[in-house]
Amino acid sequence: MTEIKRRVLMDKDAPNRSTAIVNGQSSNVLNWDDVRFSWAYPKYKKMLGNFWTPFEINMGTDVKQFNNLTDEEKKTFKKVIGLLALLDSVQTDYAGKVADYLTDSSLNALMIILAQQEVIHNHSYSYILSSLVSKDEQDRIFDFWRTEPVLEKRNEFVLKGYEQFAENPTIENMLDSIVYDVILEGLFFYSGFSFFYHLAREQKMVATSTMINYINRDEQLHVDLFVKIYKELLEEYPEYDTPERATKVEGIFREAAALEIEWANDVIGNKIDGLDVEDVEDYIYFYANVRCNQLGYERPFEGYRKNPLKWIKAYEDVDLGKTDFFEQKSRQYVKVNVQDNGFDDL
Ligand SMILES: [Fe+2]
Ligand SMILES: [Fe+2]
Repeated sequence: MTEIKRRVLMDKDAPNRSTAIVNGQSSNVLNWDDVRFSWAYPKYKKMLGNFWTPFEINMGTDVKQFNNLTDEEKKTFKKVIGLLALLDSVQTDYAGKVADYLTDSSLNALMIILAQQEVIHNHSYSYILSSLVSKDEQDRIFDFWRTEPVLEKRNEFVLKGYEQFAENPTIENMLDSIVYDVILEGLFFYSGFSFFYHLAREQKMVATSTMINYINRDEQLHVDLFVKIYKELLEEYPEYDTPERATKVEGIFREAAALEIEWANDVIGNKIDGLDVEDVEDYIYFYANVRCNQLGYERPFEGYRKNPLKWIKAYEDVDLGKTDFFEQKSRQYVKVNVQDNGFDDL
């Protein structure tokens, strides 16, 4: 059991560029031109490029449309937001905990930006709900994680993995917690996402879906960052890169997919016109395969090589400034501000 030590605040005798991903030496001074991993700076630029805030998004049309949703759509809408609120809250804290144990100051910086983005995600849920429902109802939705049994079971699954690392930071526990992270950020959001994209496809609740789309885009970068850290850990500690670990991770993904499918049946079921839960199930298997494979392991589900909800692709691939999928004013705001600040000239 290799324990991981916390990064020290300052080390006069250590180089600025760290000597290892964890348990290395680092002065803790951040010079972006002198960091351990060549992918860190491009990742930093991408994460900053994603910057957005809910304030930029006008909820006017959504407010009018919300009352016209079917009762089931409203119920699902609230449940999914309630779920996301819990996951993003926990994620903010987990990212901070991981940050403490990464030796290189640039990786610490990336984790802090990641955590900041999770804060914005939570802000968006408050912002959406405060526009659409009463304060009492908003408070109730933010408590769903306490009262919904299916949700509770699913959250406990991820939290267990996070807690193990938080309480006992070893290489093994960090690796495991990253697997749970990839499940949280790369799988457990996805049936929720599909519901909002389904509404957007029908031109409903487009402002909300725009925020969901921005969140989705952030999460893709987050998953990739954690995957890179996972692989780097295995590179530096090859004794953990074993067939047993592969089997363990594939098993965790199987369990995660089963829980996500249970949740999809609870919130989507056959209640949402135009969105078949069978397709969402296939989408979950597909993403479980994608994520497990990203971590370097076999796809746990035979078949499921293609995205069964092809129309979602357009939403997932939106790139700020290039594809203006939703034609939201907010994107123009961003551009105007950028020019006003002369940021391009810096
Ligand atoms: Fe998030
Ligand atoms: Fe995230």
